[in-house]
Amino acid sequence: MFVTRMNIQENVSLEPYNTFHIDATAKEFVEINSLRDLQQLLKNPEYMAKPTLILGGGSNVLFTKDFEGLVLKINIAGITILREDEAHAWVKAGAGVNWHQFVLHCIRLGYGGIENLSLIPGTVGAAPLQNIGAYGVEIKDTFDSLEAVDRRSGEVKTFYHQDCQFGYRESIFKNELKDQYVITSVTFRLHKKPIINTTYGAIEETLAQMRSHNGSPAVPGIQEVSQAVIQIRQSKLPDPQVIGNAGSFFKNPVISAEKYEQLRQTYEAMPVYQLPGHLVKVPAGWLIEQAGWKGKRIGKVGVHDKQALVLVNHGGGKGEEIKALAYQIKEDVYQKFGIEIMPEVNII
Ligand code: FAD
Ligand code: EPU
Repeated sequence: MFVTRMNIQENVSLEPYNTFHIDATAKEFVEINSLRDLQQLLKNPEYMAKPTLILGGGSNVLFTKDFEGLVLKINIAGITILREDEAHAWVKAGAGVNWHQFVLHCIRLGYGGIENLSLIPGTVGAAPLQNIGAYGVEIKDTFDSLEAVDRRSGEVKTFYHQDCQFGYRESIFKNELKDQYVITSVTFRLHKKPIINTTYGAIEETLAQMRSHNGSPAVPGIQEVSQAVIQIRQSKLPDPQVIGNAGSFFKNPVISAEKYEQLRQTYEAMPVYQLPGHLVKVPAGWLIEQAGWKGKRIGKVGVHDKQALVLVNHGGGKGEEIKALAYQIKEDVYQKFGIEIMPEVNII
């Protein structure tokens, strides 16, 4: 029995809780504001029998149907500096803290390492799940540890870097331990003497423009890098408040150097990133654009006109329609290039 009855609501529209703005319904919905709330809920035998879904900011999920179970919306707050030494600060944030607000907070404190990850939507708690990455940085680069609650026993476990099996948009929580743990906090080891990383994409170019337009300092700091990243992202990616989307719908596929050589005979301009072990990563956005999908609209859903990797809900679209569009794109890319692209978004 519940010691204190938590506020479990019934038949809640998930539209405000996912950035695709899909109007699916959760049979039951509860907001989790603390570790105690969560442990109390897990103790309830009624809960054990129910299908459950953990939700942060809903910026990497696609609902294709109503959810016939209990949605746990994680709101656990709080940012604490655990300790510091000469070079580093260990900063812990609750799983429900907004990721971008966390980045800005760390920048204000002068702590570097996550400024390139500015403006990624969602929560701190979901960030390790797919090892969020952008502009040459992934959270694994500054990740120290996380705390998570075992959904079956209610016990808290600490996972260190080596436990998480981080990869490109991957971690153990998306694979072997899928749906087994609720992440309640994450600790980062940030740099007190930040190392600036401006090598990726248009960061250098944007910083130069910022210098000439508004007199930014000649040597950029973490604040300027963050601003440059924000500017680049705003120029390419649709704002989910305005147009429903979940960022990149697919992951960038990895192919062999031999396969790349074959394709290069036909597609000379195909951009790639070299990886170790005779592998190359191909931007899926390029493949999708070449296949003719960029800016296409099918009813209420479509492909973003500035970034073909982003599928959008123009308003009132259904999750099933986005899934069907994604499937058509995947098939078409495979027909044209012989490359299989896999979704990054969690399809529910
Ligand atoms: P949700 O969408 O709520 O959940 C995602 C998954 O994590 C689900 O499977 C959920 O069950 C699980 N989950 C959520 N919280 C927890 C928890 N506390 N414990 C256990 N499991 C949990 N991603 C990048 O990597 N790089 C980018 O540059 C990037 N750009 C984006 C741009 C836009 C415009 C959008 C909309 C998305 C972008 N994303 C990007 C994807 C998204 O922002 C990230 O995946 C983010 O980490 C998702 O956080 P969330 O809280 O919204 O997670
Ligand atoms: N490209 C095209 N057409 C397009 C889109 C991209 O030709 O419509 C080409 C670009 O010209 C460029 C290359 O593809 O040569 C890469 O494009 P971009 O720099 O925009 O990055 P991306 O590979 O499409 C990845 C991440 C993003 C992340 C950016 C910046 C994945 C799946 N996506 O996108 O992450 O913000 O790099 O680092 O790895 C997300 O995960 O949701 C996400 C937005």
